[in-house]
Parts: sequence; structure tokens; C-alpha cells
Amino acid sequence: MTASQADDSELAAGGLRLRIDGAVATITLARPERRNAMTPSTWRGLAAIGASLPPDVRVVVLRGAGPSFCAGIDLRLFTPEGVPGEEPVASAADPDFEQHVAGYQAGYLWLRNPDIVSIAAVHGHAIGAGFQLALACDLRILADDAQFCMKEPALGLVPDLTGTKPLVDIVGLSRAIELCLTARMVSAAEAVLLRLAELVVPAAELDDAVRDLVGALLATDAAAARATKALLAHASGATLAEQAAAERQAQARLLRSRLADG
Ligand code: CAA
Repeated sequence: MTASQADDSELAAGGLRLRIDGAVATITLARPERRNAMTPSTWRGLAAIGASLPPDVRVVVLRGAGPSFCAGIDLRLFTPEGVPGEEPVASAADPDFEQHVAGYQAGYLWLRNPDIVSIAAVHGHAIGAGFQLALACDLRILADDAQFCMKEPALGLVPDLTGTKPLVDIVGLSRAIELCLTARMVSAAEAVLLRLAELVVPAAELDDAVRDLVGALLATDAAAARATKALLAHASGATLAEQAAAERQAQARLLRSRLADG
């Protein structure tokens, strides 16, 4: 099944495929001949999927077709010719530049929604905007050939697709500075050490590993899973006392809604 509001042809224009099987949505970056390079249509397509996701979807898996997860922004957007059939990337000369970037970021932000658990299944390269997409997900399962790279500073840009906060939260400020300002590749083995991956498996076992994880996530009570993700996401910005209060309130809401349901 495909989501009705996220129109298939629009998604295809952004190099995206969407499949929804019950509680699981799988988004495939599907322009393998360009190593799944992204354009503004890709980011708008991702935002449209997030906005039209059926309420019973609990897990969203992101994956890449072909040899790489994602080679980042389509570099042809930085040439005068651009990408055929594609709107140009926002120009800084445009007074609405930041609004355009906010539109691109919307393609990433919904992946943190407490109603879902998002999983990046990464093989091959995840560069720039592609690395940031993996960082936007709650969990990252890597094939052993995966490589991350925050390339933006090397191209004279900052990472602006919501990746800087999760990167710093996960690896710490010093390592984030080192990774971004050298724009070096991070192997799957190093990604585990840096806590950028929950699991690394042989490339041939990536699909099975993702299937197992999805099964385990779906075995947990849906309402408790949603409330717990919201609680955990709140924790890092809260004091112990605030978090303890949030736990009490979340438990009361959860149990009372169950009582109300009989
Ligand atoms: N944009 C457009 N085309 C790309 C692309 C990209 N980002 N990455 C790869 N391609 C194309 C190549 O041009 C090539 O096309 P042709 O067959 O027509 O020559 C095809 O995809 C295959 O590429 P490679 O032969 O290079 O494949 P590989 O497997 O040997 O290498 C790679 C893969 C390491 C990802 C390499 O292609 C590469 O380094 N790509 C560029 C990565 C990059 O710098 N991305 C920008 C990051 S910055 C960003 O994303 C942030 C932002 O928003 C501004």
C-alpha cells in the first residue's frame, strides 16, 4: 500500500519510494544511478510522507537503493545547469532563504515524532545531507561497509538539515568539531565506538537485522512505546526533579487512558 496524500509521482520526482505494510512504513531513496543524491523535491517528498503518515504506522525505516545509502545533495544543483526538471536550491540572495531551508528541514524533523520509531538502515556511503538523514532517525543499523561523512564544511557550507544537534548529543562537542571540520569518513566500526550506530552487521544481513529490530519494536505495547519515547526525548533537557515529574504525569496519562478504554 502507498500513502494517499504523499502522491507516488511526486515522490518519484524526488527519488523516493514509499511502502506501507500495516504498522511499518519503508522509505527507499531510489536514485541509485546518482547514489541517491537529494534535491529539494526529495526533502519536500520526505516532509509530505511525514505529514500524511497513517496514524497506525509505528515504525519508519529509511534505506537506500543501490550501492549507497545517500551521497548527499545532488551536486549538479550547484552548477548553472542545475538538475533537469528540478527547482534550483534556495539562493542566499533570496530574502526568504531561511524559510526555504525550514521547508527542507521539515523533511527531517518529523522522524523524531514520538508516535513513531525511525530507523536508518545504512549501507555504503551516507554523506552530507545523507548523513544528516541518518542522524535524524532514532536508531541507526549499519552494514559493515557503511561510511559516514559530514562533508558540508569542506564544500564551504554548514550542515543545516538538522544534523548538528544529534551529532553533538551523540558524539560530544569535541568529536563533532573534529568530524565536521575535517569532513573525514567514519567507518562502520568507528561509528559503533562513537555510538553513531546501534548495531553493525555484515552487509548481506542488513535486511534481516532491520526485520528483527522492527519485530521487537512492534512487540511492545503501542501506547507505552509512544509515551516512553516522548519521555526519553524530554530527559536530556530536564533536571532530575522535572524528569521525575514527567514520568509521574506520563504514567498517569497512560493508565488513565487505558482505564477510560475499559
Ligand atoms: N550529486 C550528483 N551526482 C552524484 C553524487 C551527488 N552528490 N554522488 C554521486 N553522483 C553520481 C556520480 O556523478 C556518478 O555519475 P556518473 O555515473 O554519471 O558519472 C554516479 O553518481 C556514481 O558515482 P561514483 O562513480 O562516484 O560512485 P562511487 O560508488 O565510486 O562513489 C561516492 C560514491 C563516494 C558517494 C561519490 O560519488 C561521492 O563522493 N559523491 C559526492 C558526495 C558529496 O560530496 N555530496 C555532497 C555532500 S554535502 C551535502 O549533502 C549538504 C548539503 O545539503 C549542501
